[in-house]
Amino acid sequence: MHPTPPLITGQQGPLDALVVGASGGIGLALARALAAHPGVARLFPTSRQAPASGPLADLATDHPGVVHPLTLDLTDDDSLAGLTQRLREAQARPQLVINCAGLLHGPGLRPEKSLAALRRDALAQAFAVNAIGPVLLAQAVAPLLRHRLPAVFASLSARVGSIGDNRLGGWYAYRAAKAAQNQLLKTFSIELQRLNPQACCLLLHPGTVDTELSRPFQGSVARERLFSADTAAGHLLAVIAAATPADNGRFIAWDGRDIAW
Ligand SMILES: NC(=O)c1ccc[n+]([C@@H]2O[C@H](COP(=O)([O-])OP(=O)(O)OC[C@H]3O[C@@H](n4cnc5c(N)ncnc54)[C@H](OP(=O)(O)O)[C@@H]3O)[C@@H](O)[C@H]2O)c1
Repeated sequence: MHPTPPLITGQQGPLDALVVGASGGIGLALARALAAHPGVARLFPTSRQAPASGPLADLATDHPGVVHPLTLDLTDDDSLAGLTQRLREAQARPQLVINCAGLLHGPGLRPEKSLAALRRDALAQAFAVNAIGPVLLAQAVAPLLRHRLPAVFASLSARVGSIGDNRLGGWYAYRAAKAAQNQLLKTFSIELQRLNPQACCLLLHPGTVDTELSRPFQGSVARERLFSADTAAGHLLAVIAAATPADNGRFIAWDGRDIAW
């Protein structure tokens, strides 16, 4: 039998993992892959919905003792404080944290085609979930990353958040919020290295992935460039597994290549 490949560089035994935004799309695919992975001791997948039913409840039933769903809304400070408290109560020592929460469209929110479509409340919503939420998540879990073990904090960004690569324009709020996330978590990565020299913070672009988030905008995407959520999860786990503390603070695509800030 082949030994299980480690999920993160330097992993010694089964680890605790946290996946935020795990009720659908890429987050759910990652949660399913991690729940079935022998290198995971405990998985804490989160959703805004209480996990009495739905995909995370099913995952917990399929993997008793491994999967422990939690409720988390990144836009709510009490909810973030509750996450820290519940992880402490569980004596969790997370070595893998993946933030998959993101917002591109929803009720009253459409990516802007032009400046004229820009709205104050849409900008605020996009920033709340895509920029402020991820760095406050980092704040909530940072005390739990002080262990002397290797750790990865990865957050899903997007190539359209690249300022250097912005050739098409449009999507003001989402682009700017992802760019803000990049700067906020790049700054966190420097502090993280002092908290835990074996830790690494990554900003990851998953490619274009067939989920609710991208569905209204898939028309112009070639089929071979549109990944399933399971394929995207596999790509992201491979990038995470290859990362070392020397990669701390990088903005990387699904294929391991750097993206311009
Ligand atoms: N799909 C793509 O082509 C693509 C491309 C580039 C980047 N990305 C990024 O990849 C990430 C995952 O996207 P996806 O395609 O899997 O999207 P998705 O299917 O829409 O999933 C987004 C997740 O975000 C969670 N979420 C939304 N608001 C939240 C909040 N306030 N607090 C906590 N969680 C919240 C949702 O969970 P609940 O509703 O259960 O709380 C949901 O599970 C996002 O950051 C997205 O920007 C996606």
